[in-house]
Amino acid sequence: MADVQKRDGFATKFGVIAAAAGSAIGLGNIWKFPYITGENGGAAFILVYLGCIALIGVPVMLSEFVIGRRGQKDAAGSFRRLAPGTPWFLTGWMGIAAAFMILAFYGVVAGWTLHYTFMAIGGNFESMDPAAVGNYFGSFISTDFLPIFWQGIFMTLTAGIVLAGVKNGIEKYSKILMPLLLGLLVILAIRSMTLPGAGAGIDFLLKPDFSKLTGKAVLDALGHAFFSLSLGMGTMITYGSYINKKENLGTTAIQVTLADTGIALLAGLAIFPAVFAFNVTPSAGPGLVFVTLPSVFNQMFGGPIFATMFFALLAVAALTSSISILEVVVAYFSEEKGMDRKKATIIVTILITVIGMLASLSMGRTSDIMFPFFSSGEWIRVGFFDLLDKFSANFLLPIGGLFISLFVGWKMKAADVRDEVSNGGTLRAMFFWVFIWAARIIAPVGIIIVFLYNLGIIQP
Ligand code: PFF
Repeated sequence: MADVQKRDGFATKFGVIAAAAGSAIGLGNIWKFPYITGENGGAAFILVYLGCIALIGVPVMLSEFVIGRRGQKDAAGSFRRLAPGTPWFLTGWMGIAAAFMILAFYGVVAGWTLHYTFMAIGGNFESMDPAAVGNYFGSFISTDFLPIFWQGIFMTLTAGIVLAGVKNGIEKYSKILMPLLLGLLVILAIRSMTLPGAGAGIDFLLKPDFSKLTGKAVLDALGHAFFSLSLGMGTMITYGSYINKKENLGTTAIQVTLADTGIALLAGLAIFPAVFAFNVTPSAGPGLVFVTLPSVFNQMFGGPIFATMFFALLAVAALTSSISILEVVVAYFSEEKGMDRKKATIIVTILITVIGMLASLSMGRTSDIMFPFFSSGEWIRVGFFDLLDKFSANFLLPIGGLFISLFVGWKMKAADVRDEVSNGGTLRAMFFWVFIWAARIIAPVGIIIVFLYNLGIIQP
């Protein structure tokens, strides 16, 4: 085909899974999942979350892979190629906007993990009791300079890897380190669950109380399913376009989802028993992991070493996600707008870093600047950091996902979708019809129900 430029791609099967799982597994699993679970009351929230993952997340992920691999372009370009002359490419645009917002605050939190890595190397947490660990976090994030400094380092690393290109950049880093993080989480979960007073935390995770389920909780669960699986903004479309034609897209989607969900649940097991053991409030918010885990490490033999490894690996997990977010935007500007890849990477990184600095300052100096935000049927006021997070995860991503599943379910020809998921008929694709109807009905209706519930229009 004359119009297809030679594109970079993933070399091996493991590379595909490692990169897609590397995108999915990140701060969302280990930082965000525990803190929003804490805010929304525990087990019942987790069940709704798992429902969103299975019924909406999996079909949307497979839909993104189908669009990307068939379109062979960036997020907006793939829509344009598959449905020329229609407004579907706007879904890709919305994704680019979401990518800007997400990477802005993501870089800030990733910066915190870098700072904590260096704190742990110096053994600085060792002398702190749980209350002091909590106070430390509060004062650290509200200072002007230090969080922004680490955010800048993290964003520079992200840009550096994206500049190195798809194959050498992304695959190489994802492969080795994620299994290590998994091992560490297992150790941490065991230590946490054997702390005195840990039982209340296990109950919190396992005993659902559906009376606590609010409209906010349900929308948080849906938004987080998208955030955690990197869906709704074209990440998996962009990565899908790099997957070679021999891979099985369906099994890839399921493997990535299982890995992502497993890590989040494990992080819950590592954190909540300790939250209760150390009398931290479960709804403490974005600091939950940072105010709880240092105290767990203090109860472990070789604590500072484990703490250093943990925060360093968390930073790496964040890096394999942040490169996927930046890649969405860079692929768009280089493929659609003909910008030089290098130039696009640098300009976009600078813009996002500046937005992120404002988000960081909103935790301290500018914390009195609030924005109106609609949630659970009422207007509330949120700071800039929360605004970026809530608006992107709870609105842009699910709306993006809605259009993505509708596109595959109704706009593309079923025969073409089948061709793509069965690799031109060489795979059996047994569950093809389940997938098509999930994309046509289950995922879109599920998303709409959650929105209506959140708006207070329907009740359970
Ligand atoms: N899934 C990542 C995480 O859980 O940390 C965050 C993320 C990456 C969100 C890529 C969205 C995205 F497109």
